[in-house]
Amino acid sequence: MAEEPVIRAEGLSVRFGARTVFKDVTFDVRRGEIFVILGGSGCGKSTLLKTLIGLVPLAAGRAWLLGEEIAAAGDEARRALLRRIGVMWQSGALFGSMTLTENVELPIEEHTGLPRPARSMLARAKLGLVGLGDAAGRLPAEISGGMAKRAGIARAMALDPPLLFLDEPSAGLDPITSAGLDKLIVEIARETGTTFVVVTHELQSILAIGDRCIMLDKEAQGMIAEGDPKRLREDSTHPTVRAFFRREAA
Ligand SMILES: Nc1ncnc2c1ncn2[C@@H]1O[C@H](COP(=O)(O)OP(=O)(O)OP(=O)(O)O)[C@@H](O)[C@H]1O
Ligand SMILES: [Mg+2]
Repeated sequence: MAEEPVIRAEGLSVRFGARTVFKDVTFDVRRGEIFVILGGSGCGKSTLLKTLIGLVPLAAGRAWLLGEEIAAAGDEARRALLRRIGVMWQSGALFGSMTLTENVELPIEEHTGLPRPARSMLARAKLGLVGLGDAAGRLPAEISGGMAKRAGIARAMALDPPLLFLDEPSAGLDPITSAGLDKLIVEIARETGTTFVVVTHELQSILAIGDRCIMLDKEAQGMIAEGDPKRLREDSTHPTVRAFFRREAA
């Protein structure tokens, strides 16, 4: 029997008022893979992440995370599930008045009864993992944008979640820093078996890290492609998908 997927999404639809953002979105995410959600601005990528973790209600469809249907889970089960998921939000700023260590400690404090010294030891270990061991005592204003992204990943990883969501981790970074971040994500995935769901529209990143992807489209109000990004680049006949992967005007 095939292993149960880490995420199962079946016919997801989301509406805000009278406006449908997307409908009939169906996909599976397998254990240990880097799954990319791509598409133009406003097509619903961030909304899809929020829907998956139960922050935005579904108009239709069902979603399971780590075997649990979040919309049907009670408060306790939901909290337990969220503890097993790490999220780096698109706007996911660090708290400016707290050091990097204190920022990474936050989810540990919220979800565990660990004493302060143990929390900060764990936090510093996570910062070390993303190459920020030496910057642990700095404030967010004292580090670069790329370092802040890595600190955000460290915070999302604080509780060793088997599933990590990253919403545009490399947006606004220079290509070299962005490539470094891609390398880090691949290393974490391969070394820890963590499953990643990454929202990005950076073609280089998608081709470098994505095992599989789905592409959403605003006009189509849903998915227009699914599969291995390298195959999509070669084989897709959908004009928007081709345009994206081949950098052509549609
Ligand atoms: N809480 C909300 N209430 C009403 N409309 C919303 C809400 N959240 C998102 N939207 C709308 O849903 C659409 C999709 O937004 P979303 O943030 O998911 O797009 P996105 O694909 O992540 O875009 P970007 O690439 O710019 O981050 C947008 O038109 C947005 O204005
Ligand atoms: Mg977004």
